[in-house]
Amino acid sequence: MGKQALFSPISIKSKTFRNRVIMSPMCQYSSINGHLNDWHMQHYSRFAFSGLGGAFVEATGISPEGRITHGCAGIWSDDHLDNLKKVANTFKSYNCIAGIQLAHAGRKASTERPMDGAKSIKDNVNEPSWQTYGPSAIPVDSGSPIPLEMNDSDIKKVINDFKIAAFRADKAGFDMIELHGAHGYLLHSFLSPLSNKRSDGYGGSFYNRIKIIEDVVREVKLVWPQDKPIFYRVSSVDGAEGGTSWEENIKLISFLKSLGVDVIDCSSGGIGGSPVLAKSKIIPGFQVPYAEKIKKDTGIRTMAVGAIIGYEQANNIIQKGRADFVALGRELMSETQWVYNAAKFLGLKNSKDFLTPNYAFYLQRRDSQLDRDAEPL
Ligand SMILES: Cc1cc2nc3c(=O)[nH]c(=O)nc-3n(C[C@H](O)[C@H](O)[C@H](O)COP(=O)(O)O)c2cc1C
Repeated sequence: MGKQALFSPISIKSKTFRNRVIMSPMCQYSSINGHLNDWHMQHYSRFAFSGLGGAFVEATGISPEGRITHGCAGIWSDDHLDNLKKVANTFKSYNCIAGIQLAHAGRKASTERPMDGAKSIKDNVNEPSWQTYGPSAIPVDSGSPIPLEMNDSDIKKVINDFKIAAFRADKAGFDMIELHGAHGYLLHSFLSPLSNKRSDGYGGSFYNRIKIIEDVVREVKLVWPQDKPIFYRVSSVDGAEGGTSWEENIKLISFLKSLGVDVIDCSSGGIGGSPVLAKSKIIPGFQVPYAEKIKKDTGIRTMAVGAIIGYEQANNIIQKGRADFVALGRELMSETQWVYNAAKFLGLKNSKDFLTPNYAFYLQRRDSQLDRDAEPL
C-alpha cells in the first residue's frame, strides 16, 4: 500500500469506493415520526459533496418502538421513502457510496435526546414514553424502564422488520446497509450474557444468543441485492464485567463473514449504558486496535472508528493494513472538507477531484494567482 493509501479505491461486490473515508452514522434527533426533513437534507448534502468514499445515514428505526428517541429517523413505512430517496440520490450524485444504518434500540429505546439529558422518558405529555423490548426483563440501569421480555412472535416481528427495512433501503436507492449490532441496542443485548438470561432457543449458549442475529442477517439477505455491501457494527468489547468475551465476538464475526457480511464496523461499549467504553478521556484512534485485531483474527474487512482526526493518522491506519476503511463522525462536523484537505496534505495531484466542481474551479484559479508567501497588506 503506497503513501496515499487512504485514497486507494476499493471494490466490494459491485460498489467501488473512491477512497477509504466513510461518514459514520450520526443521529440528528430531528425527525418527526421518523421522517427526514429539511435539516437532514442540509446536513447530508454538505457531506455528499465533501469527497467521501461513502456515507451512512444515521441509525434508522425499523419500527417506531425501535427508535432511541422521538427524534430518530425511521424506515417502518413506505411514507418514509421519499425523503430517504432524496438523501441517497444526493450522495450518489457526488460519487459517494450511499449507506443507511438499520437499527432497533431494544431496551435503550424511549429515551430523551442527548441534548435533553438522554434519560428514559418520564412524564412528558408531548413526547410520551413507550414500552421497550429486550431479551429479558432486565433494565439497562436502575433509572431505566424494565423492558418487556420478547416472546416468539415479538422476535419474529423484529426479524421481519429488519428484512422489510432492508427491502425499503434498496427501494430508496441505497448502495449499502449497516446493521446496528453494537452499543447495547437490541441485537447486542441478545448477544450479551448480561442482558440475555433466556432459557429458550434465543438465550443460554453462545449459539442461542446469536440466533436472532443469524436470523436477521439470513432474512435481510433474501431481499437485499447480492451485489450490494452489508456492514455490521459491533461493540468489539463490552467494557462490562461478565459481558461478551473477545473470543465470543470473534466467533460471531467469523460466523457473520460466513453468512456474507462484508465489513465489520468496530465500535465498542454500550451494554451498560454509555455508547462507547466509559472513559474519562478518549485518545485519538482509541478503537483502532479492535479493527486491527478483528481483521487479523477473522480475515474480514474492517472499518476503524473513534477519534480519527489527523490526515496522517487516518492514512497510516490504511497503509499499515490495520483496517480497510476509516469512519469519521465528529471530525467531519468540524471540518466538512476533511477529505480534500487530507488529499492536499498527502500530496495527491488530483486533490481537487474531492471537491464539487463549483468549488474546484475557483480554488484552482486562486492557486494559480495567489502569492501565499507575500506579506499580507
Ligand atoms: C451526534 C452523534 C450521533 C451518533 N449517532 C450514531 C448512530 O446513529 N449510530 C451509531 O452506530 N453510532 C452513532 N454515533 C457514534 C458515531 O458513529 C461514532 O462511532 C462515534 O462518534 C466515534 O467517532 P468520532 O470520534 O469520529 O465521532 C453517534 C455519534 C454522535 C457524535
